[in-house]
Amino acid sequence: MMVAESALTQWLTERAQHIEHVLEQLLPPADLVPARLHQAMRYAVLGGGKRVRAALVYAAGYACVRPDFVQPTFNESLDRAAAAVELVHAYSLVHDDLPCMDDDMLRRGRPTLHVRYDEATALLAGDALQPLAFDLLAQMPLAPEAVVRATRTLAQAAGSLGMAGGQAIDLASVGKTLSQQELQQMHTLKTGALLAASVKLGGLVAGAQASQERSLEEYASAIGLAFQVVDDVLDVTTDTAVLGKTAGKDAAANKPTYVTLMGLEGAQSLASSLHRTARQALAPLGDASNLLGGLADFIVLRDH
Ligand code: IPE
Ligand code: IPE
Ligand code: MG
Ligand code: MG
Ligand code: MG
Repeated sequence: MMVAESALTQWLTERAQHIEHVLEQLLPPADLVPARLHQAMRYAVLGGGKRVRAALVYAAGYACVRPDFVQPTFNESLDRAAAAVELVHAYSLVHDDLPCMDDDMLRRGRPTLHVRYDEATALLAGDALQPLAFDLLAQMPLAPEAVVRATRTLAQAAGSLGMAGGQAIDLASVGKTLSQQELQQMHTLKTGALLAASVKLGGLVAGAQASQERSLEEYASAIGLAFQVVDDVLDVTTDTAVLGKTAGKDAAANKPTYVTLMGLEGAQSLASSLHRTARQALAPLGDASNLLGGLADFIVLRDH
């Protein structure tokens, strides 16, 4: 069963507004000392982004939640988990844009953090967003074992065997031709890991059964890879104005991407096949997984 596209778009918009409000409340106030750092952290996180990772946390939570769950504590845990992944993601973008990494000037339609502030502030804002994410997870009103599992899930996804490791491979791969297997590993780590963690966190907060967790995992690894394949495609096919970040950056920086490996059509057809895999993985979860299905559509069909 499908969620109509307009219903999904409406839900995504509503969730994006909701997580914006949650993040706004949870970030340190802009006038709290050290004010410049706090302003930079708020600049990095608020006022932009598709909020796909937060949406995945909510959708996975709703797909697996048991009817006997206490709503207010369930919602608070989902909010904290969704905010935590968005904080880690925002930090990864700030550092990804630094001159020593991708050297980008534009992000979410605005100057990047190091351009708007300065490089040291961009480093520090990233440094401070990360522990804030784990502080939020530590405060989820869940059983202590679930909090520990959630903390480890995000830590592993962000670390050297996840996002940071993928970023290291990305930098080491400039100017090289990677095999499909190497490219898949890089994409799975640098982008897939955090998206997969978002799905896993939603399931964990909902108290998902082992069989539900397996379906979520299969779905997450497909959409996690698909997300970066589409990011590579959009870098080639879409204008800077629509993207909100500099188009054509990958080719200009000589990065190996799915487009350089298999051509535009090859990359697009890989994204479609991962989309099908993701949707098939949801079958055992039934109608409760309709939002996750809609998010898989959105990830592959998005224009920015
Ligand atoms: C961009 O992520 C960086 C990648 C991991 C490809 P998003 O496309 O989710 O960026 P925002 O959060 O919507 O700005
Ligand atoms: C970014 O990949 C992955 C991250 C961990 C931030 P990209 O470098 O392709 O992301 P964009 O295109 O700058 O958003
Ligand atoms: Mg990069
Ligand atoms: Mg980049
Ligand atoms: Mg990119």
